[in-house]
Amino acid sequence: MKIEVTLNGATVVDEVEPTLLAVDWIRENRRLTGTHVGCDTSQCGACTILLDGASVKSCTLLALSLDGRSVTTIEGLTVGRNDLHPMQAAFHEHHGLQCGFCTPGMIMRAVDIASQGGPLDETTVRHALEGNICRCTGYQNIVASVIAGAKTMNAATVGE
Ligand code: FES
Ligand code: FES
Repeated sequence: MKIEVTLNGATVVDEVEPTLLAVDWIRENRRLTGTHVGCDTSQCGACTILLDGASVKSCTLLALSLDGRSVTTIEGLTVGRNDLHPMQAAFHEHHGLQCGFCTPGMIMRAVDIASQGGPLDETTVRHALEGNICRCTGYQNIVASVIAGAKTMNAATVGE
């Protein structure tokens, strides 16, 4: 079956099997391997993408459900930029990653949280990241990264 998706800002038309998962379409068909598979049971959040601007776990969706919609993967955050996205920069500066396996999903979730505006404190961020699991860290640096990244993102929005 045919799908037409705005993928990281570009229109993509593809033939997909009805049972193909969105995460497999992204990784295997489109070769965007920054979106990871950590569990396949909707628990780890490593496969998180933005669908029409909202974070979703792409292992829970069929590729068919992306038809007519806008998908952003971790690779899409730098489209049209000369530098890292503020949330990526914050993870770098605040040591929010170790092995990096969970990082793309954490960042996509964090971008969604930050885009909703409003004050972000440690409790709010920890609650919002409940669906994203990191096997390496104690989460402290991840939370600090999200708070810092959100500050930069929202300061940039106010300045527009
Ligand atoms: S691979 Fe999707 S939640 Fe773990
Ligand atoms: S940095 Fe290794 S799983 Fe999170």
